Order: sequence, then structure tokens, then C-alpha cells
Amino acid sequence: MTSHEIDTINVDLAGRSYDIHIGIGLLEKAADYIAPLLKRPVTAIVTDDQVAPHFLDSLQRNLEAAGISNTSIVLPAGESTKSFAQLESLLAQLFEAKIERGDTIIALGGGVIGDLTGFAASIFRRGIDFIQVPTTLLAQVDSSVGGKTAINTSYGKNLIGTFHQPKLVLTDMATLDTLSQRQMLAGYAEVVKYGLINDARFFYWLGDNGERMLARDSQALQHAIAVSCRAKAIIVAADEREGGQRALLNLGHTFGHALEAATGYSDRLLHGEGVAMGMVMAFELSARLGLCDDSVAPIVKAHLDRVGLMTRPNQISDADFDAETLLGHMMQDKKVKQGEITFVVAQGIGQACLQSGVPDAMVKDVLEQALADSAH
Ligand code: GLY
Repeated sequence: MTSHEIDTINVDLAGRSYDIHIGIGLLEKAADYIAPLLKRPVTAIVTDDQVAPHFLDSLQRNLEAAGISNTSIVLPAGESTKSFAQLESLLAQLFEAKIERGDTIIALGGGVIGDLTGFAASIFRRGIDFIQVPTTLLAQVDSSVGGKTAINTSYGKNLIGTFHQPKLVLTDMATLDTLSQRQMLAGYAEVVKYGLINDARFFYWLGDNGERMLARDSQALQHAIAVSCRAKAIIVAADEREGGQRALLNLGHTFGHALEAATGYSDRLLHGEGVAMGMVMAFELSARLGLCDDSVAPIVKAHLDRVGLMTRPNQISDADFDAETLLGHMMQDKKVKQGEITFVVAQGIGQACLQSGVPDAMVKDVLEQALADSAH
């Protein structure tokens, strides 16, 4: 990737406001951004064993050159790291490294590292500062922004966590050079989500430029990451703790989380892949509810199919679950209130809204149709 200008987006949360910087080569000048935020020049970098070989050295060297000490904690890569066991191990390593309340933790990695590290930072010595350095597209456009932290349990994904905003999000698009195409596509699903929620123009821009972006054209990528972060920053600033409109960011997630649970949070289905399938189902549900024209879900599905995302559950290897099982998983969703799920649905592309009171039978029909349908 060649060098570009830097986009800076502010997440406006009064005393907890912070900047997101998006550009190329930012890891090599990380200290320029990080140093002014430190209470004392002591940090702990938390990363995983897939990210560390690529980026840990360069971040460490840059911090050291600026006189910022750093301990590195390398955890196993993968969704199963978002667990009580790894949380305990991470906290123990922070204590062993004598990290104090005034020090700062740096999360270097994708959504798993960001969510787990954010959670640890929110409870370690009753809460210390942390910085997000996201290295996957999904983390750069979604999970590193907005302060949601979490681990998973056998009861479901992200059911235990806190809201703890980072002090900075430093997005170096050069880190995407080493990302697999499958992971790029999984992140792309979250990019499409912003178009579907409230920006039809962006959805159609992706129709023209999505493939260029997935081929890692740096201009297209930077535009898409900046549009996504700006959209998220506005929603988070208006509704940090998800009392209302922040729930729109969960478009496709209720269906998607159920698929992830049914596949055991394994490599068979990445989070973004579940979201892609879930967004198609959310538009199909919207049509059944009479909110949205029947022609819209096929447009959404066609775009996701075209770029190479899975859009139907039968594309998951060994898809051995039924609609009843998925519905059971959906009832554990955080959006369940008095036994009822609030769905993110839509009146059209870029017109997402919330809907409660959806009959279970209608949801089951949507699931059954999706399970029966092949992708194309
Ligand atoms: N990923 C959804 C949210 O941050 O609210």
C-alpha cells in the first residue's frame, strides 16, 4: 500500500471523547499519537500469536524509541480466547508485569483481542486506560470503536462485558496486507451494514467499489473505513449505552449470533459471515412484516453473493442445525426484553428500524426458508 493522508474522526463523548486515526504506516509512528495520552510512559501490549509475528516488533521498537516502556502479552488467536480462562490469565500477566492504575494497555489485534483487552482494562484495578490498534477490517470498521467489551460464555456470545471507551483508535491500513481474503470479506459484511442502516448512497457506492476495496485498493479502503467509523461515531455519541438507536448497529446480528452459537463459535463461521447471512434474513423478515418491498432482500443478497460472501446457512460446512435450534439461541440474545426479541429490520436500503412483537412463527418461517434455500 502506498502512503495517503490520514483521516481523523472524533467520537464525541464529553470527558471520554477520543480520536480515530486512519491511514497507512501509523504503527511506525504510533508513539506520536500514544505518548500525549499517557499518564506515565508505561504500557502493556496485548496481542495474539498470529498478529505478534507481523506487527509486535515494529510497535515495540517505536514505543521504545520514544522512551515508552512496554510489556507484551501474547494470547492464542481465535474466538475461544474471549473466555473467562483467558481473561484470568491476561489479568494475572498484567499483575505480574506490575501494571499500575495510571498505566495504559494497548490492544493490538482483531475483534477478539480488542473485546477481551477492553474488558480486562475496564476491571483491572477497577479500570485503567486502553488504546485500540485494530489489525483486521472488522475491528477497524466496528469493534474497536464505541467501547463495547466482552467475553463469550456457553450461554452465548458477548453476554458478559462492559462499556469502556478507548483513549484512542489507531488504524493502520497496512496491517490489512497480511489479512486473509476470508477475514477481509467477514469485515466487509460490517461495512455493508452501515449502508443498509442509514446510508443508501454508501450501499450503492459499495456496489460500484466494493470489489476494488476487497482487492485492497488503498483509496477505496480508506474511504470505506472512514465512512464506517464516521457513521458509528455519530450513533455511539448519541446513544453510548444502547438505550435506543445504537441497537441499529446490530442489523443481522440476532440471526448471525444464533448461527455462530449453532456452529460452536468455530472457524466454520466467522462473525462477519454470520452477519452477512443475518442481514439477508433481516430484510426477508422485514418483507414478511410488510415493512419493506419483497424486491429488497434479493438486492442485498445479490451484492453479498457477488463479492463472495456466504449468504445462506447451507454454505456452512456440516450445517446440521434446524430452525428450532436457531430460535432457541436467539432467545438468549441481549436484545430480549420480557421474553421478546427486538429485531433490527428495515423499510428499505438505508432505512433500518427496530421492531418488537414479531411472532416466533414468522421468525421460524424466515429461518426455515433460509435453511432450505441454496445461495444462488
Ligand atoms: N457492534 C455493535 C456496537 O458496537 O454497538
